[in-house]
Amino acid sequence: MADVFEQVVNLCKRRGFIYQSSEIYGGLAATYDYGHLGIELKRNVKEAWWQAMVREREEIVGIETSILMHPEVWVASGHVSEFHDLMVDCKQCRTRYRVDHLPVKDGAPDLSKCPNCGTKDSFTEPRNFNLMFRTMSGAVEATAQELYLRPETAQGAYVDFKLTQQAARLKLPCGIAQMGKSFRNEVTTKSFTFRSREFEQMEMEYFVRPGTQGDWYRYWVDQRLKWFQKIGIRPENIRLRPHEEKELAHYAEGCTDVEYNYPNIGWGELEGIASRTDFDLKAHQTRSGKDLTYFDAETSEKFLPYVVETAVGVDRTVLIALLDAYHEDEVEGEKRTVLRLAPHIAPVKAAILPLQKKEELVALGKELFDKLKKYWNVETDTSGNIGRRYRRQDEIGTPWCFTIDFDSLTDHTVTVRDRDTLQQERLPLDAVAEFIRQRLDVTYTDPVPAPAPAE
Ligand code: GAP
Repeated sequence: MADVFEQVVNLCKRRGFIYQSSEIYGGLAATYDYGHLGIELKRNVKEAWWQAMVREREEIVGIETSILMHPEVWVASGHVSEFHDLMVDCKQCRTRYRVDHLPVKDGAPDLSKCPNCGTKDSFTEPRNFNLMFRTMSGAVEATAQELYLRPETAQGAYVDFKLTQQAARLKLPCGIAQMGKSFRNEVTTKSFTFRSREFEQMEMEYFVRPGTQGDWYRYWVDQRLKWFQKIGIRPENIRLRPHEEKELAHYAEGCTDVEYNYPNIGWGELEGIASRTDFDLKAHQTRSGKDLTYFDAETSEKFLPYVVETAVGVDRTVLIALLDAYHEDEVEGEKRTVLRLAPHIAPVKAAILPLQKKEELVALGKELFDKLKKYWNVETDTSGNIGRRYRRQDEIGTPWCFTIDFDSLTDHTVTVRDRDTLQQERLPLDAVAEFIRQRLDVTYTDPVPAPAPAE
């Protein structure tokens, strides 16, 4: 299909999913706002993750730590010294590039000629650019403390490991999950919300006994891949890419990216699953001087757990859900755009459509709306002909439309129309809530046997 990416970006703005931040001022680069449908979709994605990673698991708990953390956190984690991109500027057209994003020539980034303006030898010397946003805390300039906006949510789980583990009485293996905003002063930003400067992450740190991390790493790669299928992403658009040895960060034993086949950029990262050893806990224990070891009451051993981390972007997941769901087809000779979103992440679960704007039909529609609104985000629409109203709902991915007609007044039934099959059936009014509930019932966690603990 021609330029699906552009079509989705246009749809997002037209229908109120996602658009440029501060648009009336000309926009602010690499920042985006979620509209009324976008935020419903985003909340559903987050809910699906929280359900899978926290609620359905006995050994994982959720936390929410501050965006502003003690500056020493970022020294210990290595972000102050390591979290750089190498960048160059074109002196002619002033375009800024990440060196690793430049076209490759003879196996290395081609620094000879600017891809934007074509000028030869126009680049500045490559220099390191730290991606963390800085800010000041405190009213008095002279005594204000320099802080960073967190570039990842993960560090909150490491820093709070002991508090959380003890308060929740967790035994290894156990996990700490959190979602929230992260900030990175990205050098190059493009591709809509794929890479922005303010974004949300959903990360889970899984603490295990050293020696068992290999099994858990493979387990989580598998679980996370399945999660994307559970939220409706087509399997052919998702793949796993284990990192090569030379790509691995110095502390990582292994890392696998879950990648999506983005229509505009090809295969690109969606999630990273990493076996991180005890690198982070050890670094924080050393820097803070506080004991972060785990005490195993059964063996009376004290040790630093190893960690397997799963780290996914909320905004990238929302983006791929939209890209993956976008279809154009023809219904009764008319072109339609349809978002085939999995019903449990669709922003609007049901539309109630009185066939005509007649008082009795509208009143019955309102009655149904009032019943359903307690559980889900539902809409009523009385404007325009019924075909047009169906198209409007198809375009935003509403799985079911319930049409109230004159028969409904006497036989208390409605017509339900399925977004994907276009099948219509008659249903008693008081069976509508159960109809929806049954179709939204999803279990995320497969009964996969946990890997056996190492001896
Ligand atoms: N704690 C590990 C960590 O943060 P990461 O690969 O840097 O790992 C995890 O980030 C995920 O966060 C990425 O796979 C991506 O989905 C999302 N992400 C990272 N930077 C992003 C950005 N600038 N804009 C949107 N999403 C981003």
